[in-house]
Amino acid sequence: MNLPIGVMDSGVGGLSVAKEIMRLLPNEKLLYFGDTANVPYGSKSPLFIRTAVFEILKYFKSQNVKAAVMACNTSSAVALEQARRCFDFPIIGVIEPGVREALKIIRTRTACMFANSVTVASGAHDALMKKLSDNEISVTGKACPDFVPLVESGIFEGAEADRVVNKYLSAFSGIESDTLILGCTHYPFLEKAIKKAAGNRFSIVNPASATAAELSEILRSCGLENVSGLSPAHRYCVSGDPEKFSQVASMLMGFEINAELVNPSFQKRV
Ligand code: DGL
Repeated sequence: MNLPIGVMDSGVGGLSVAKEIMRLLPNEKLLYFGDTANVPYGSKSPLFIRTAVFEILKYFKSQNVKAAVMACNTSSAVALEQARRCFDFPIIGVIEPGVREALKIIRTRTACMFANSVTVASGAHDALMKKLSDNEISVTGKACPDFVPLVESGIFEGAEADRVVNKYLSAFSGIESDTLILGCTHYPFLEKAIKKAAGNRFSIVNPASATAAELSEILRSCGLENVSGLSPAHRYCVSGDPEKFSQVASMLMGFEINAELVNPSFQKRV
């Protein structure tokens, strides 16, 4: 029960989920992994991403995690099902919690979604939405390749953020939809800019708190909750530059983070 929970993403985006896990499950110790040598996943192939995710999960296994969270829509879209068959600890993704959250509030027949091109091309959100709504509701995705580089460089608002948000929002102008799913865990850090540009056209769905709730439910049902009451010491590991990650992550989390460079085999692959 005192073992850590692995939380992975391509970079700082998964911290939007880690933040909610820390809030909901303050006793749990997190082992965060940002695959920053390979960020953004949105420009990689599904095979490359699956290989990278499996390496991270193998690392989590070597660290004795009791559960793992793919705090990454791209990984959840291309690697979750296979990973669940290959590892012996529970693995939670972000797509199902996000789609279920959207279903609770949507009143139109289409949900709009910002995500990267791999996630949009996978059709994972659309397929699940159709399945859970008996084909009543579909998801229309817009690939937003400029968002992740902005967040990774510590830009969350201002003129540049406004410009790219407006550019991507215009893709939804002819669509009747009242719900916008943030289909990438980096995007909640741009929520202010997105809200500013979208006005009250959309209810915005960030899957983070629903993902934390699903994790909590799984830990409880498997008897894996940490009930020690000790404040946990989280660890942050990266495959790229630890200083750069630490600087942006500290800004995003509001406390100091000192990341470690973990396994040289995570260095940029070609
Ligand atoms: N934050 C990730 C996601 O939710 C990955 C983004 C990227 O690296 O392109 O999809």
